[in-house]
Amino acid sequence: MRKEIIKMYKRADKEGFAIGAFNFSTSEIIKGIWKAAANKKSPVIISNSEGERSFFGLEESVAIYNAIRKKHSFVVLHADHTKSFEEIKKVIDAGYPSVHFDGSDLSYEDNLRETKRAAKYAHRHNVFIEGELGGIKGGSTTHKDESLKDIVKEEFMTKPEQAVEFVKKTGVDSLAINVGNAHGLWKDYKQLDFDRIKTIKQKTGKFLVLHGGSGITPADFQKAISLGINKININTEIRVAYEKALMAGLKESTDDVPYHYLAHVSEAVSAVVEDKMSVFNSENKLKK
Ligand code: G3H
Ligand code: ZN
Repeated sequence: MRKEIIKMYKRADKEGFAIGAFNFSTSEIIKGIWKAAANKKSPVIISNSEGERSFFGLEESVAIYNAIRKKHSFVVLHADHTKSFEEIKKVIDAGYPSVHFDGSDLSYEDNLRETKRAAKYAHRHNVFIEGELGGIKGGSTTHKDESLKDIVKEEFMTKPEQAVEFVKKTGVDSLAINVGNAHGLWKDYKQLDFDRIKTIKQKTGKFLVLHGGSGITPADFQKAISLGINKININTEIRVAYEKALMAGLKESTDDVPYHYLAHVSEAVSAVVEDKMSVFNSENKLKK
């Protein structure tokens, strides 16, 4: 599967689109993501982080991925923000074809060592691996009272020279970078450092990943893609759409039938995902 994934990233890099990675933790979300991908004929990555997959179930995630694979020619199940080697081993052994080792809480040396260890295990099992350097702060939620200035700082941003050493020594297939991005929706504008994206791409030549996609403007996404971003992660905007549709469904509900009050939840998720796929220019990019 790693070969097939690399082929799609290469295509994204060459043709100027980004593959959207959308987080899920419930069946309605996964249904919404998959329907959007089908409508848009778009490659798609379905992601879950440690908390999300412990809620949804590890084997259940793999089972639903295998079901979607039968109907959609490019879907990848990805283990997002996986913080230990033990957890990487667990998801790979369960059947995830793509993983993200997030060693951003560790010192640079420890991150390098543990990412290298994870990459070795991943590649031995034909699994694609994303590393992270710099660390993307904040949670995937709406940050009402906090300010981005407190967490987006030069010192946390990915240093191009260090990125060169990191990808070379760890052997990762792609790299998540901090270029002014942060997880969640904020009242402030997410100012991306475009020069930094350009420099990291030129120096590393690697597939690059932009986390914290919620709230970033279409124009900024497109500029980031043109400079070398190949995968973009979206979570909070999906969570917000889900909650809003669920609340409305419950309010209008006249009975206690879940598929009545949940009826529009998947559609709300699909709307977010379809919109991002258009912005990422990933429509009609399934196998020719
Ligand atoms: O790993 C997941 C993402 O980076 C999602 O970020 O919540 O800002 O969309 P977001
Ligand atoms: Zn993230």
